[in-house]
Amino acid sequence: MSKCWCVCVLFSLFSSVTGINQKTLDLNGRWDIINVNKGYRISGEVPGSVYTALIGNKTIGDPYFRDNDVQYRWIGRDDWTYTRLFEISDEVMSKQAVVLVAEGLDTFSLITVNGVKIGESENMFLRYVFDVKKALKSGLNNITIDFKSAVNIASQLNNQSAYTIPPSCPNIVQNGECFINFIRKEQCSFSWNWAPSFPTQGIWRNISIQYFDEAVVRGLSAVPILDADQNWVIHITLHLDISSQNISGLVETTLDKINLSHVHLLSSPVYSDIYFNFNVPKGTHIDLWWPNGYGEQALYNLTVKFVTFDKKQIMAQTSTRIGFRSLELVQEPVSDNSSHGVTFYFKINNVPIFFKGTNWVPADSFLERVTKTRLERLLRSAVEVHINSMRVWGGGVYESEEFYGLCDELGIMLWHDLMFSDALYPSTKEFLASVQNEINHQVRRLKTHPSIILWSGNNENNEILNEYQGDQYKKDYLTLYIDTIKPVVTLLDPSRPFVSSSPSNGPETEKEGWIAKNPQSDFFGDVHFYNDSADLWDISVLDIPRFASEFGTESWCNFETIEKVLSEADLSYNSPMSLHRQHNVGGNEIMLNLTKIHIQLPNSTNPKQQFEDLIYVIQIHHAVAMRTEIEHYRRWTNQLQSDGRGHTMGALYWQLNDIWQGPSWSSIDYDIKWKMLHYYARKFFDPNLISPYVDEDTLKVFLKSILASEGTLYMDLYTWKNMTPIKSWEKQFNLNETSGCIFQNNLDNILSDAGCKDKRDCFFYFSLNSKVNPTSTSWLPLAYFTDIQGRIPKSNIKIVDVAMVSSTEFLLTLSTDNIAPFVWIDSRGISGRFSDNGFIMKDSLLQLTYKSWDSVDLATFQKSLSVKSLMDIY
Ligand SMILES: *[C@@H]1O[C@H](CO)[C@@H](O)[C@H](O)[C@H]1NC(C)=O
Ligand SMILES: *[C@@H]1O[C@H](CO)[C@@H](O)[C@H](O)[C@H]1NC(C)=O
Ligand SMILES: *[C@@H]1O[C@H](CO)[C@@H](O)[C@H](O)[C@H]1NC(C)=O
Ligand SMILES: *[C@@H]1O[C@H](CO)[C@@H](O)[C@H](O)[C@H]1NC(C)=O
Ligand SMILES: *[C@@H]1O[C@H](CO)[C@@H](O)[C@H](O)[C@H]1NC(C)=O
Ligand SMILES: *[C@@H]1O[C@H](CO)[C@@H](O)[C@H](O)[C@H]1NC(C)=O
Ligand SMILES: *[C@@H]1O[C@H](CO)[C@@H](O)[C@H](O)[C@H]1NC(C)=O
Ligand SMILES: *[C@@H]1O[C@H](CO)[C@@H](O)[C@H](O)[C@H]1NC(C)=O
Ligand SMILES: *[C@@H]1O[C@H](CO)[C@@H](O)[C@H](O)[C@H]1NC(C)=O
Ligand SMILES: *[C@@H]1O[C@H](CO)[C@@H](O)[C@H](O)[C@H]1NC(C)=O
Repeated sequence: MSKCWCVCVLFSLFSSVTGINQKTLDLNGRWDIINVNKGYRISGEVPGSVYTALIGNKTIGDPYFRDNDVQYRWIGRDDWTYTRLFEISDEVMSKQAVVLVAEGLDTFSLITVNGVKIGESENMFLRYVFDVKKALKSGLNNITIDFKSAVNIASQLNNQSAYTIPPSCPNIVQNGECFINFIRKEQCSFSWNWAPSFPTQGIWRNISIQYFDEAVVRGLSAVPILDADQNWVIHITLHLDISSQNISGLVETTLDKINLSHVHLLSSPVYSDIYFNFNVPKGTHIDLWWPNGYGEQALYNLTVKFVTFDKKQIMAQTSTRIGFRSLELVQEPVSDNSSHGVTFYFKINNVPIFFKGTNWVPADSFLERVTKTRLERLLRSAVEVHINSMRVWGGGVYESEEFYGLCDELGIMLWHDLMFSDALYPSTKEFLASVQNEINHQVRRLKTHPSIILWSGNNENNEILNEYQGDQYKKDYLTLYIDTIKPVVTLLDPSRPFVSSSPSNGPETEKEGWIAKNPQSDFFGDVHFYNDSADLWDISVLDIPRFASEFGTESWCNFETIEKVLSEADLSYNSPMSLHRQHNVGGNEIMLNLTKIHIQLPNSTNPKQQFEDLIYVIQIHHAVAMRTEIEHYRRWTNQLQSDGRGHTMGALYWQLNDIWQGPSWSSIDYDIKWKMLHYYARKFFDPNLISPYVDEDTLKVFLKSILASEGTLYMDLYTWKNMTPIKSWEKQFNLNETSGCIFQNNLDNILSDAGCKDKRDCFFYFSLNSKVNPTSTSWLPLAYFTDIQGRIPKSNIKIVDVAMVSSTEFLLTLSTDNIAPFVWIDSRGISGRFSDNGFIMKDSLLQLTYKSWDSVDLATFQKSLSVKSLMDIY
């Protein structure tokens, strides 16, 4: 920082100002895209990629259809050139500085303007700013960006590497490309165990020419921090691109709603970064930013203007949105016994918060297709089921402004990985320099967002490192995450915790020299839990961690979704194309193995019907498995086991969304159609949770109620054959804490007292505070469905009425003549969601609502509907 600045604070509004001496010539829009080897010259949109341009030109079909990921492999293995003409005025040429600003180039390119080389790119996550004045002329100009195949360059870099840097190539079932870890590009674009390989090329973010005298604002970040005296101090960094060192003026900062302003004098800065603090006076009323479910997401506009001393001329101006919230990651001993480890939980505004969450992956292989509408539907779907947090996973991308803006608005706290995942990485000078620039750019770009609450160095790389021998790998790991990345993050953003990896052991990892021998310890930080061979409806197979940041099991996307991208002949569970979509080795068989522990597999002789029925039972397995696991984590929130395990404060299931149509761990499929799991999330994340379970021989009912500490739990025991309960209980409760076990009794005794002679004949149904209009409900079968199914009568379940509330909301009435488990209603061809689905229907009538994302008329909606329950598929 330059020593010749002084700071003063004014509390008044500014006099009006005229003219902004900072202008932009947008270069987005149509470019020509050329492939020399095939002789293609087509026109395509920027921001975009060669794939969407080729789709638009009808050179290729839908890349997601059948095995087109393999048929179109040549596209990513070839080189493509982007070029266009543009007009430059005399005004542009008269400015002191003219720069080309490329917010994202994917990935390796050479940029020339009028045949003059102006720069090169090699990192998809960087913003490139090149001086172009020397290459420009008044009138018509041309720009050419020659991209080189990232697949070829990754292979060349691997060839040049002095030693192997695993994992080299993805598993053969992924049909992917190799050596993605050598390059700074979206790691899942070379395929993942749920993603196809589409190694995109193109100008994937905005591109423009900026021209200015004096200075232009290249970046603004503003982070409100509550200081030791409980006053808000906004830490502001203004990054100016200055055309000459000899500039001076005032930096005026204003905060809307509370009419506060601040002036900072600036004269001839040595560095282009200007740091200053904006102190919010004590006593100013501030509305806080809260996570979803805890309060409002108050956001304030903060505007910064760089003006002349007389305030008559604005030299540069920008604004951003901030949220006031305090943040603390609490890592303190859980007990007096030092072997019991430390807590790992977050306090927001001093309130400990259980992370009801999930993991986010890129919402399309072609990022330009991720529109704001698509993001809004996915993220609204999340908050509608009480999700308050997500992990932005390290194999994807630093997301768009729109993404973070929506998370700020919706109260979704983000655990943010840096973009390194499931691999070891190089530590060459060039690689480290590129990473350093990347982290520097991205942390500055993103740190203003109140939604982001943590930075994590990578996804699972401490674990991967432990799988390989060799000091070189350890050295590379420490060089990259601890010596290169960590200092940049902690310098630029001391307001958030940094963990070296996910999973890791927090402070214990540091004690172990930043490489944890067991980063999956239950006693310290976060864990990732998967078990593809266990009975996932059985809590005894689960861990009791502090924070589960990943866990899940696979299911298929909805049948309607997969049907669209397959041919009629492909529509059977084990067809070559069905197996082609499955990128998890043995995944299709694993799903059947896991499902059939609990549910008889359907046996239709029609392969298409069989596929659809299997998808339904697999989704049941998926939903109940995640319900079992998440309720388990929530029950451990306020409990500590004698060995020190417990105080679980986070459950982020893997994964919210899909990148294409196929099987995956997601709760919402590519077409934004909710899987059964997403409907279950609304219940297992309900702030008022009834969680019944059988622990050995004991029936236990755990309750978490935020409404009142006193209430009534209604418990009914039914047989499958009768819609009237055989016995009912009412349990008054008084919760001294916010949650606890409010009922426990020997199950056999309860059943024999009630006259249920065989567990397979009965199930429990629970209602909180009212049976007619309950605060929440739950149910519990008492044996495996494989054993129960012969005892459940078929039911005739019908949609008896559909009424229109508005063009996007409908009221449905269902009827049944028998108890029906796992009722599944579908609205084929219409995008929206029901108020509930996958539920047990125990009453003869039931009302539900449906909300569609787009307007639809009653007749079309009615025609789209169908309903089934478990016994209908046999
Ligand atoms: C594809 O591009 C070529 C070359 O620019 C053009 O002649 C053709 O009309 C385009 N086709 C479509 C469907 O846009
Ligand atoms: C771009 O400009 C250079 C230099 O003026 C010229 O040689 C070249 O032909 C131009 N290219 C196009 C496509 O107009
Ligand atoms: C890397 O080396 C392999 C094996 O020698 C060779 O087949 C491949 O073409 C090389 N890759 C590049 C991009 O040169
Ligand atoms: C990208 O450019 C468009 C104008 O072409 C603008 O509306 C949009 O806000 C820009 N996006 C970002 C993130 O700067
Ligand atoms: C800086 O600008 C002022 C007037 O704007 C001028 O008087 C002074 O000589 C300049 N200094 C340098 C070092 O260019
Ligand atoms: C801020 O200023 C506006 C316009 O002068 C005024 O209407 C508003 O009441 C002020 N708000 C506060 C919180 O002082
Ligand atoms: C904050 O800025 C946004 C975008 O510029 C604008 O739409 C909104 O009205 C502003 N809010 C206030 C309270 O000024
Ligand atoms: C599925 O279960 C069968 C029978 O137990 C077993 O042989 C097979 O290995 C399992 N498949 C997978 C992929 O785990
Ligand atoms: C399917 O299974 C059911 C129940 O196990 C049985 O009744 C039915 O006959 C079977 N259908 C076929 C086509 O095998
Ligand atoms: C809980 O509250 C009830 C009623 O206020 C009281 O009788 C009981 O002793 C309390 N239990 C504990 C463990 O504090």
